[in-house]
Amino acid sequence: MARQYGTPLYVMSEDIIRKRIEDLKQAFDSTGVKYDINYAGKAFTNLAMCRIVASEGISLDVVSKGEMLTALKAGFPTEHICFHGNNKTPDELAFALEHQIGRIIVDSEDELEALNRLTTLKDCRANIMFRVSPGVEAHTHELIETGTEDSKFGLPYVQAREIILKTKKMPRLTVVGLHCHIGSQIVSDEPFVIAAEKMIDLYRLLQEDEIPLGELNLGGGFGIPYLHKDEAFDVIKYIPQMVLRIKGLCDHAGIDLPKLIVEPGRYIVAESGVTLYTVGTVKKIPGLRTYVSVDGGMNDNPRPALYGAEYEAYICNAKSSSIMETVTVSGRACENDILIDRVDLNRPEVGDTLMISNTGAYNYSMSSNYNRYPRPAVVLISGNMSGVIVKRETDDDLLRLDRIPKWLSGEQHV
Ligand code: LLP
Repeated sequence: MARQYGTPLYVMSEDIIRKRIEDLKQAFDSTGVKYDINYAGKAFTNLAMCRIVASEGISLDVVSKGEMLTALKAGFPTEHICFHGNNKTPDELAFALEHQIGRIIVDSEDELEALNRLTTLKDCRANIMFRVSPGVEAHTHELIETGTEDSKFGLPYVQAREIILKTKKMPRLTVVGLHCHIGSQIVSDEPFVIAAEKMIDLYRLLQEDEIPLGELNLGGGFGIPYLHKDEAFDVIKYIPQMVLRIKGLCDHAGIDLPKLIVEPGRYIVAESGVTLYTVGTVKKIPGLRTYVSVDGGMNDNPRPALYGAEYEAYICNAKSSSIMETVTVSGRACENDILIDRVDLNRPEVGDTLMISNTGAYNYSMSSNYNRYPRPAVVLISGNMSGVIVKRETDDDLLRLDRIPKWLSGEQHV
């Protein structure tokens, strides 16, 4: 792949993406409950990915007009698109209404009022869900942050009922369910059950208030093993376990089990992707460490810099006889952009192809042009076929949006 398409290069496996989706379906099918899977497009989205998701018959979660446009262009069925975001612009809301996006996930009272105004103005209807912040505290898992009481996302739990009741006077809005997303990279079912318990309490109260709910979306967040030693969210084991406990909670509350929805992004694409780089320099600092610099870095993978994320790497062209060495893999941005602090590699040499695994989620989608480096291409492999699904940026792309204002156009170096 590196020889054929050049480096740096993202390579995604269609077979693994489909396998992950199949695993999720199998886990839910085994429970016999009504469910849906929304792929969280923010993890990795483009026309080809939308086609794969559509062909699997699952739904898609989008968070911007850009993601909606991509889905529409790919021919994704609009009724299976859910539109998220804590600060959707009036333009985005109008766009979602015009295209009859399946679910708009209302994140605030202001947004509810804006939607009410817009649907009245346009004389149209919308199916909405409410994102609620269930106040699940971080002690369940250190990365559970987005569902805590102190969060920019969702209706504060204590105000949710009152805000949702306002829809009784908004006949153009149909409330189909509740949503929460407690965080990411979660490796057990416990936090989901804790959140579900609070959501079911609210769900029951709203049903008593005669709000016609039917769906409970528990968000995404299923964790994957970035390193061999990492724990992961075992969907085949945890989903049936989780569903059983949620059924129990519903029985206890005296309500019918709602249609359950999950919204994984990382689980579906992280392990489907790798990044290939070429080693440019190997710098041995005696008594300290060896820096192996590659032709990418925080531009194509900001996760180590942002979250202290850890990865594993391999030398693709290594001879089995070569000696292992502990090295640091760094990028080429004008920053200390260390991709992997310490990793054992078959003694790396200039020109080697180095692969970092599990980069399929939140890598391309969070990439940047920092230092004016072009974004790498994305290649999809399927069985023994391969093809570019996102082109490598060119020098022209880097300059495409630049303009010289009139008062500078005549300036010359003096
Ligand atoms: N649903 C909602 C409403 C979300 O906000 C997210 C992620 C997901 C679903 C999907 O979560 P997942 O299954 O992928 O964990 N950039 C970070 C992750 C940010 C996640 C934001 N929201 C990272 O690279 O780890």
